[in-house]
Amino acid sequence: MADRYQQLVNTPIGRIVSKQVGLPSPVKLERYEPGQPLISGPVLVGAARGGRLKDAAESVLREADAEVFSGIPGVDETFKALVFDATGITSSEELREAWSFFHPVIRSVRRSGRVIVLGTPPSDASNPVEAVAQRALEGLVRSLGKEVRRGVTAQLLYVAPKAEDQLASTLRFFASPKSAYVSGQVVRIGPAVSKAVPGPDSGLTIDWERPLDGKVALVTGAARGIGAAIAEVLARDGAHVVGVDVPSQSSELDAVTGRLGGSSLLLDITAPDAPAAIASGLKDEHGGVDVVVHNAGVTRDKTLGRMSEDLWDLVLSINVIAPQRIDEELFEQGVVRDNGRVVGVSSISGIAGNAGQTNYSTSKAGVIGMVEAWAPELAKRGGTINAVAPGFIETAMTAAMPITIREAGRRMNSMAQGGLPVDVAETIAWMANPASAGVTGNVIRVCGQSLLGA
Ligand SMILES: NC(=O)c1ccc[n+]([C@@H]2O[C@H](COP(=O)([O-])OP(=O)(O)OC[C@H]3O[C@@H](n4cnc5c(N)ncnc54)[C@H](O)[C@@H]3O)[C@@H](O)[C@H]2O)c1
Repeated sequence: MADRYQQLVNTPIGRIVSKQVGLPSPVKLERYEPGQPLISGPVLVGAARGGRLKDAAESVLREADAEVFSGIPGVDETFKALVFDATGITSSEELREAWSFFHPVIRSVRRSGRVIVLGTPPSDASNPVEAVAQRALEGLVRSLGKEVRRGVTAQLLYVAPKAEDQLASTLRFFASPKSAYVSGQVVRIGPAVSKAVPGPDSGLTIDWERPLDGKVALVTGAARGIGAAIAEVLARDGAHVVGVDVPSQSSELDAVTGRLGGSSLLLDITAPDAPAAIASGLKDEHGGVDVVVHNAGVTRDKTLGRMSEDLWDLVLSINVIAPQRIDEELFEQGVVRDNGRVVGVSSISGIAGNAGQTNYSTSKAGVIGMVEAWAPELAKRGGTINAVAPGFIETAMTAAMPITIREAGRRMNSMAQGGLPVDVAETIAWMANPASAGVTGNVIRVCGQSLLGA
């Protein structure tokens, strides 16, 4: 649904009025278009003394054809992105180095720019004093995300020791317009879970334009909305997409998969024989699967006292029970190939809770539980599991909300607007990338840094 308020405040007169009255002024967010540069302006890279990631970050950015600066900037210089390696910070006194880097330049970040802080996971710090300082960086980044405005995002990437070579896919994603609606997030990167990761050790190479070439991706609920966008972006990245949806969505699903050169599998994921049918379909037709995205999901809102047991069961069985049954079958039957990816679709309702959504929030918190419980198990089998937690995304579901709730959902975030299905899809494509083998156990909100559950 069109965001008429955003259209209005982006007219010359609308800009003046909204500024004078103090209304939110959402900018048009830059989004990725194939063929465009990944980072469309200079990047300033700095580091606290003794940091271990500055060189790795610079080489990832140069490989992405970014203009990298690491000296003291001139007063009139502006930047598309600021990247600060904070891994050298070993005490709270040294947090001052983050202030020293950002203070002179934070106001010179361009529209839809990026602020990225690199840290050490507190659990990997050498001592409690260092752990406190590294944990403190979360507060810095979350506040910066709320201050910068104009479509600028801020993130903290915690990179474990010995995982310096796993930075590329994550830094590329967060430095680019692919992460347009992701802000205030904390990402954990560890050593690769598989040896089949592109890099000098495996001899495998990656084409960053088509990282999923030769891969097979299963997307449930692919007939419309966010699922159709996920199918589209994974196909753009080179995957053969197998879209799943219920038989009543047959023509919509075929329209999506047909356009993308993919395949359709019509079934209800809650049917008792669905996991076996998906496993045999993937094995027989495609020889296995590399990426599994559990997107199919429903809401059936009622306060708990008015909710029938049917509504409870329906939401739980689609949103959290079916994904677990499917994963179990796929792994038991050896259908998921080495360096495989599982991605769940949670929701900020699963983090913050929402009146009238006890069934939905329970199921979506369960999706987060799946990520936490299965990450160590899948790592043993050379796979990763992560989830996205979308906030207010412009789809048929949110267009049907009462206007007051819809407007509140749209504006109560650092971008002052709703996200698009493609924003969720791009985040999933980053998790699905074969080079994201160090990214597991993460739940990343795609919510424009919504105030709900923040
Ligand atoms: N739209 C948002 O703002 C938002 C916010 C947070 C989370 N989400 C989550 O994102 C996902 C996609 O949401 P959407 O807005 O695109 O929803 P949607 O209703 O537009 O699409 C969901 C798709 O899943 C399919 N589906 C439902 N039950 C199924 C079943 N039993 N078997 C197979 N397919 C089934 C539907 O037919 C439909 O094509 C859901 O998991 C939803 O909970 C959406």
